Amino acid sequence: MKMKLSRREILGVGSVAGCAAIGGSILKGANFATASPSAAALPWSWKKIDPAEIQERAYQSAWEKIGCMYGVCEAILGTLADRYGAPYNTFPVDATVYGSGGIGGIGAVCGTINASGLLFNLFVKDQNDLFALCSEMSLWYEKASLPNYKPKKPKVDIQIAKSVAGSNLCHVSSTNWANASGYKVMTNEHFERCNRLVADVAVQLVTVLNQYTAGNMTFKEKLNDFSLQCLSCHGPGNSEANVAAGMTCNPCHENPH
Ligand code: HEC
Ligand code: HEC
Repeated sequence: MKMKLSRREILGVGSVAGCAAIGGSILKGANFATASPSAAALPWSWKKIDPAEIQERAYQSAWEKIGCMYGVCEAILGTLADRYGAPYNTFPVDATVYGSGGIGGIGAVCGTINASGLLFNLFVKDQNDLFALCSEMSLWYEKASLPNYKPKKPKVDIQIAKSVAGSNLCHVSSTNWANASGYKVMTNEHFERCNRLVADVAVQLVTVLNQYTAGNMTFKEKLNDFSLQCLSCHGPGNSEANVAAGMTCNPCHENPH
């Protein structure tokens, strides 16, 4: 994958360093002895998982908390924890429930994409790769027709209409699905759709992690031509440089020029 930004630009190195300097002086007197000694340093080593093995667990876990971020994290980290123990069992998976409904029901980023970023962060050392992987998952999610998964033990045993999210935002994804299916949002049918989608994203994520850590990752996704054209002026480093976004632009913008 060709990255447009330099590492410095992506990481916003200047401002991060500035914050660290301020933070450093504020924290000088803080007592760091209370920091937990148990958290193993990152990255943790990824162990190959057969994607088919975790689908039902992802779906069922998502139902457990009506938690899309939780479902993805529980299925993957829970599977590794069951097989290998530490460090995988040291991660507080319950801390991912907040991601439901695009962060506590706000309708912002889909919890499955939030989960993908978190898991990449646990297993990927190189920060440029980390960001590229986040982008890969988000662009895949925007375009995929989902859900595909047919649960072994469905909670709501109905035909679920598929839809293309068009956006990584929970609001847009859910509303597009509501329109495609005729169901209302925040109903059991909507949760059934989202929890099946959790299984699909878990499969995609595990597939990507398997490939990446085996050294044979091929980045396939890219922004559509409409969005690339916008960014050729509005993107970082270009003439306007007033837009920092890797989301597809056209769900929200027409070409105003
Ligand atoms: C050739 C460079 C160029 C490209 C390509 C471009 N823009 Fe712009 N855009 C500008 C400039 C310059 C301005 C500010 C001047 C203006 O308002 O026309 C602007 C302004 C805007 C504004 C603010 C307009 C307003 O009404 O205040 C929006 C929104 C915008 N662009 C969206 C887009 C989108 C979406 C695309 C892709 C479809 C795009 N632009 C492609 C150069 C570009
Ligand atoms: C989720 C919706 C959403 C997406 C996706 C999105 N934008 Fe926007 N964008 C907005 C909103 C809302 C504003 C602020 C109101 C406005 O100016 O339209 C905005 C503002 C802008 C502006 C105007 C900036 C100014 O100075 O007035 C530009 C240019 C722009 N977006 C370009 C893009 C480009 C390029 C992309 C894709 C890489 C993109 N946007 C993706 C919602 C979105």
